[in-house]
Amino acid sequence: MASKSKFQAIRGTRDLLPPETALWNRVEETARSVFAAFGFGEIRPPVLEPTELFARAVGGDTDIVAKEMYTFADRDESSTSLRPEATASVCRAYIEHGMQQLPLPVKLYYMGPMFRRERPQKGRYRQFYQIGAEVLGGSDAPAIDAEVMEMVMTYFGKLELPGAQLEINSIGHNADNCRRGYVARLKAALEKVKDQLGADSRRRIESNPLRVLDSKLEPEQAVIQTLPRIADCLCDECKSHYAAVKHQLEMRGVLYRENWRLVRGLDYYMRTTFEITAAGLGSQNAVCGGGRYDGLVELLGGPPTKGIGFAIGEDRLVLSLEEAGKLPAAPGRDVYIAWMGEHARATAIRAAKTLRSAGISAELPPVEQKFGKALERASKLNSRYALILGDNEVVEGSWALKTLADGTQQKFTESELLDFLKRSL
Ligand code: HAM
Repeated sequence: MASKSKFQAIRGTRDLLPPETALWNRVEETARSVFAAFGFGEIRPPVLEPTELFARAVGGDTDIVAKEMYTFADRDESSTSLRPEATASVCRAYIEHGMQQLPLPVKLYYMGPMFRRERPQKGRYRQFYQIGAEVLGGSDAPAIDAEVMEMVMTYFGKLELPGAQLEINSIGHNADNCRRGYVARLKAALEKVKDQLGADSRRRIESNPLRVLDSKLEPEQAVIQTLPRIADCLCDECKSHYAAVKHQLEMRGVLYRENWRLVRGLDYYMRTTFEITAAGLGSQNAVCGGGRYDGLVELLGGPPTKGIGFAIGEDRLVLSLEEAGKLPAAPGRDVYIAWMGEHARATAIRAAKTLRSAGISAELPPVEQKFGKALERASKLNSRYALILGDNEVVEGSWALKTLADGTQQKFTESELLDFLKRSL
């Protein structure tokens, strides 16, 4: 048994290990190829950003900024944070590099670690990973909203993510005849049913009434069902934008469900919001969240700019795929080189080099092993073949290849061997 190490990964962080990392790589490679097919290029923003960037973009009153950021005073005393999300960073980069000069819209994707000091549980970590994409500049055509959702659903389809379910909503825009008017109505309605709500929701009536709709508390559900709905309060432009988004999704064959309670926990959203849930995740079942954020770039000091995007929780995506039995088998070796003797050593080194450069995985034991021992280790490493090289074989120029599954053995010359392996692997 491994002795307990003095050091352990910090609470809420973890090591990702093989064979699971093979699945992480597959998930990332698939994202790259699907996103590229939709015309997205990769951006790699830094993990550290000025705290003020998130305070302004995500919102000072949100849980993320108020409670969950890892923030420190850098040596020059400027307040710096580990990014809790990357939309703000992408908008900062858009402004900093004058991307409004590029052909619009600019389509960018990213993947990497994010940090939030949340209470860790299954599917919720303090260092977690997102795969996200943003479309910036140009128009706010509903086709863009629909195409972004189509892209995520195409990606999940390619991964065969079980039970992927897209939910959409429109939260309008910040005006008296639209969301502001709705929030006032909602607040008045909440005041009337206050006694039936828990402490958190009661507090939110003042600080952020929309977030009450997010509540998962069982006793509050019936009351929430009676509250006014935003769809009835949207202004004409937002209403027709939302109708067009739905129409565009239908034209693309993207299945969705409307959820009037989908408000999202970040301040920058307007109009379209969406979330995707997947199977096997328990209570943390949102595997992707996104929405439109026209005005965010301007809020950060840039030109008026339309924007929409999403971020996938990669940890949850991998978890859901694993639960569905999509964990790849522990990778073995194609060939284990069982060598013995001084002549054989030089030949074994050369053989390993030749095989590896042909893309065949070869395990070369660093020190001589008895053949019995070597074969044992070859099967432990899940090798397909053992190449047996003793001094005799080397002198005769006839190499023995053992198929470990059935114990059969064949003889080859050096050049025949490579041909055979290329054909059979
Ligand atoms: P978000 O909803 O805060 O949105 O996060 C997106 C996804 O990241 C969530 O649906 C979830 O899968 C995953 N996630 C969030 N927190 C954790 C955590 N502590 N542990 C594991 N996974 C987590 C955003 O971050 C927006 N920036 C998305 C966006 C991009 N909107 C427009 N563009």
